[in-house]
Amino acid sequence: MRSTHNFNRDWLYAPLELTDTIPDAAFASVDLPHTNIELPYHNFDNGDYQFISTYRKHFTLPEPLNGRRLHLVFDGVMIAATVTVNGHRLDEHAGGYVPFAVDITDYVSETDENLITVHVDSTERPDIPPYGYVVDYLTFGGIYRDVKLRYLEPLYIEKIFVRTLDVLTAPRVEVDVWVKNQGSAPAGCVVNVGMDGAEEPDQREGVSVEPGESAKITLGLDPHGIQLWSLSDPVLYQLSAYLTQADDAPEFDLVTARFGFRSAEFKDDGFYLNGEKIQLIGLNRHQTYPYIGAAAPARLQRKDADILKDELGINIVRTSHYPQSPHFLDRCDEIGLLVFEEIPGWQFIGDNDWKALSSRDVEVMIERDRNHPSVILWGVRINESGDDQAFYTATNALAHSLDPTRQTGGVRFFLESQFLEDVFTFNDFSKGVREPVNTPHIITEFNGHMFPTKTFDQEERQIEHAERHALIQDLAFANPRVTGAIGWCAFDYNTHREFGSGDRICYHGVSDMFRLPKWAAFVYASQVDPSVRPVLQAFTLWTMGDRSEGGNDPLVVATNCDYIEVWVGEDNHLGRFEPDRAKYPHLPHAPITVVGGSQMGVWGRMYQDLRIIGYVNGQPVIEQMIAADGIPQKLELIADDPELNADGSDMTRLVFRITDVYGNRLPFATAAVAFDVEGAGSLVGENPFTLVGGQAAVYVRAGRNPGTLMITARSLTAYRHLQPVAVTIDVR
Ligand code: GAL
Repeated sequence: MRSTHNFNRDWLYAPLELTDTIPDAAFASVDLPHTNIELPYHNFDNGDYQFISTYRKHFTLPEPLNGRRLHLVFDGVMIAATVTVNGHRLDEHAGGYVPFAVDITDYVSETDENLITVHVDSTERPDIPPYGYVVDYLTFGGIYRDVKLRYLEPLYIEKIFVRTLDVLTAPRVEVDVWVKNQGSAPAGCVVNVGMDGAEEPDQREGVSVEPGESAKITLGLDPHGIQLWSLSDPVLYQLSAYLTQADDAPEFDLVTARFGFRSAEFKDDGFYLNGEKIQLIGLNRHQTYPYIGAAAPARLQRKDADILKDELGINIVRTSHYPQSPHFLDRCDEIGLLVFEEIPGWQFIGDNDWKALSSRDVEVMIERDRNHPSVILWGVRINESGDDQAFYTATNALAHSLDPTRQTGGVRFFLESQFLEDVFTFNDFSKGVREPVNTPHIITEFNGHMFPTKTFDQEERQIEHAERHALIQDLAFANPRVTGAIGWCAFDYNTHREFGSGDRICYHGVSDMFRLPKWAAFVYASQVDPSVRPVLQAFTLWTMGDRSEGGNDPLVVATNCDYIEVWVGEDNHLGRFEPDRAKYPHLPHAPITVVGGSQMGVWGRMYQDLRIIGYVNGQPVIEQMIAADGIPQKLELIADDPELNADGSDMTRLVFRITDVYGNRLPFATAAVAFDVEGAGSLVGENPFTLVGGQAAVYVRAGRNPGTLMITARSLTAYRHLQPVAVTIDVR
């Protein structure tokens, strides 16, 4: 029988290339996922993570082999890995964004302790995508995703592909099962597939496989009473594929896959999910985080999907510019968030060996992720590269052969680009929406470097940043030939010196690097139906003198309410204001422009608190107040999770900010905040750390032992009158 062991724990790590003769004392104890170096929030160099490091693990086999094969499965190592097992050096795996497995059976001892060494080359190697020229993101380094140890019978299920067909009329399932024979003689078995919880009997067929080969069997199921996977109700099913020696004999291998019934199609006039046209509204996501690079454990990966769906309200994310964590995609399946996934790269195409790696990335990405209902489109071009007819004809054909159920795209930034794929995926930096030449057409990036904006920028810039997002989304909604628009980007990110604001950050996010919102985030958040959640955010610091010439007129409010009522001070009711349809005729929920003239503050006069109430169907549903007195009143500390797993690598975010009396962050508050951590875990991040735009975050990592983790934050420099605050986390 197959069995899989978590292999994340008890590694030894040294940030240099060491041979097996060097004693363990030269290493530190670590658990995975692991970054080869923890970095500051910004102002570091990409050279800092570029070195070869050594990971080592001593282990005895957790169970006897009993004739089985033993595979070590890496979900992702940045950017190249060479595994050595008890002195036997295996071939290098190049490419940091795709999984790989090594068969270590022939080199392990069943009785004695074994030594695995992984040399990880995290230099920006020009022979491996995305490198070769400049790249606007950092790859970071280390064994930054999960590792598993897997026992497999010599005859085992190599992969499965679950396809749902005719989901709107007579839903069917078609399953490809590849059976691999790693034994030395021809072998046969019965391949069975069944849907968990379905009344439909399992289907089966016999197969025989030559040694070293794999054979594909396709089986069909006709389930009854299935529910569709949709954005509001993402129903998932589980399929089991298993091998038996004969009909009704006990299984000796079993693989499960989660899947959903949905149809997804880009047509010339729009994108259709389950036959219903929906406008795609989305953001690009980089997988990187402050301090830990890309080494975010499952909880943080899942949290990002939740932020995109629940806080930013979008319906599609592009995994720019590479395949992202399986945990992230799993969560997208669970919550109903569509995904456009693409291969690694950035503008540059290398030589034939480089292209071969890129084609390998197409293959591994699709084989890894084609059972995810959330994934609706494959990106088979290097982001924003020039045309290359032969290369892209091949990647496109490869994608279609591996997955005939999904359309392909390939992101380019010129309209004349050769259209070889199914969907014209186009980065539109025209400050408008260019008329599609080819359809189906989707805008895969806009804004970004056209208008970098920081959480501590002057008010007018922050407003314009938000309005630029609103404008392009409005134009995308307006044009029936544009299926949607995916903004650049969700979160600020660390980058190379050739990009960004000089401190190695691209401030292109609608949220900052901590995933905390700028005002532009509320343009997206406010597009959800108010029955899902009411949203109201005024784009003002409500100061008398931050804008040029002072005051706050006009006041822009992002909201999904029918209208708002505005007061300045207790008694001064400015009136009722409705969505600005003149400016944004097509957005589901246009921001509201409040023109209040002198009521909005006049330079040299007194002014008072701002109060806004949002109404839906005549009922007040949400209120925002902003204090005229912007002196810091509260230090807040919020943990995303009340509990962590005591596994040595689980992490959660700790947001801290300084607010006015009503809880609005004060973007120009610059206090340094110090953290005391007691108990069952440790802090990840800079300590003390200064606020960035009145807000920031650090992370905590659980230890190995259950217990309570208590974190206290106190303002060190300014604002000493603020009370320290504490949170506790239960580490289980
Ligand atoms: C695009 C590129 C993105 C990012 C963006 C900034 O050209 O595809 O990765 O660099 O520009 O606006």
